[in-house]
Amino acid sequence: MPLTRLIIQQFRNIEACDIELSSGFNFLVGVNGSGKTSVLEAIYLLGHGRSFKSTLTGRVIKNERDQLFVHGRFLNSDQFELPIGINKQRDGSTEVKIGGQSGQKLAQLAQVLPLQLIHPEGFELLTDGPKHRRAFIDWGVFHTESAFYDAWGRFKRLNKQRNALLKTATSYRELSYWDQEMARLAEQISLWRSEYVAQMSQQAEQICREFLPEFDIKLQYYRGWDKETPYQEILASNFERDQSLGYTVSGPNKADLRIKVSNTPVEDVLSRGQLKLMVCALRLAQGQHLTSKTGKQCIYLIDDFASELDSQRRQRLADCLKATGAQVFVSSITESQIADMREDNGKVFHVEQGQIEPI
Ligand SMILES: Nc1ncnc2c1ncn2[C@@H]1O[C@H](COP(=O)(O)OP(=O)(O)OP(=O)(O)O)[C@@H](O)[C@H]1O
Ligand SMILES: [Mg+2]
Repeated sequence: MPLTRLIIQQFRNIEACDIELSSGFNFLVGVNGSGKTSVLEAIYLLGHGRSFKSTLTGRVIKNERDQLFVHGRFLNSDQFELPIGINKQRDGSTEVKIGGQSGQKLAQLAQVLPLQLIHPEGFELLTDGPKHRRAFIDWGVFHTESAFYDAWGRFKRLNKQRNALLKTATSYRELSYWDQEMARLAEQISLWRSEYVAQMSQQAEQICREFLPEFDIKLQYYRGWDKETPYQEILASNFERDQSLGYTVSGPNKADLRIKVSNTPVEDVLSRGQLKLMVCALRLAQGQHLTSKTGKQCIYLIDDFASELDSQRRQRLADCLKATGAQVFVSSITESQIADMREDNGKVFHVEQGQIEPI
């Protein structure tokens, strides 16, 4: 579902930008601070409703402006061009418009524009806590199981209510009624996640063998509680511990994706360049899985492409991205770093002081 046109207004250092895009590679080349990451951030905002760099809208809106706009046109699965747009105000209000209809939800943006971001801070997927890996799994489940979004939302609400009840309950009986529904949702969510990981891991392990042939990398799903015991039993047997801690200790909100090399967590074994390749492999595998399951293509945003990678590894990643046939945005400080990736269908944009011009 490539973007054919991108309009950015009052976003970071970009006052106004209106560019026609390639459905293949789009390169953004410019010096430090010119606005390359800001273009990727604007596309990400169009697909997620938020930035990947800042949770505060005020930081993203151009200084001295009171709102930002990111608009575009994308090709839907029938190859029709449709408009899409988001407007954010300094007071925090957001408006989303898709196909000419306003009042759309952020989740609908994500449905229309599945994005994969690879950026220099993206190692957190492998090195930080499980929340990043849960988000990784849930991206895939969201795009392949239409009932997931509502079920996960309901689970989170019930979990919150349960945590409040734990503070006042005098016996487990007061919770057991609510726990039935929570357990039903937890089992369903976990089943979707484990099926997703089982399917996607095959693609991920295959790409890892190409990118990191020296390692035997294995992905393993952990559902957040003991794999032999039904969740309802866990909730009942953990009642006293949950109550003393004030929250529900085990559950799908503790799920993780364990990524190991010969039984050791990857972050303890791989170098920084190798970790970056591993992140790329995981993101590419998600994209491939999405296409094989739904026919949808995701858009890849790759910030600071050259960092951490030698030319041979850059070439390998570029070949893999080309093979997907997906739309790709790549930022780089110099043209020489992207020389290996240039292709007939590609477009190069020069970025300077917030101005984006095709070369
Ligand atoms: N709200 C804002 N209003 C105006 N300018 C801003 C705002 N937020 C950030 N900037 C400026 O926007 C510029 C663009 O930053 P950006 O991160 O896009 O650069 P870049 O081209 O990716 O640089 P690098 O190569 O160093 O990664 C920076 O100079 C930054 O100071
Ligand atoms: Mg940057």
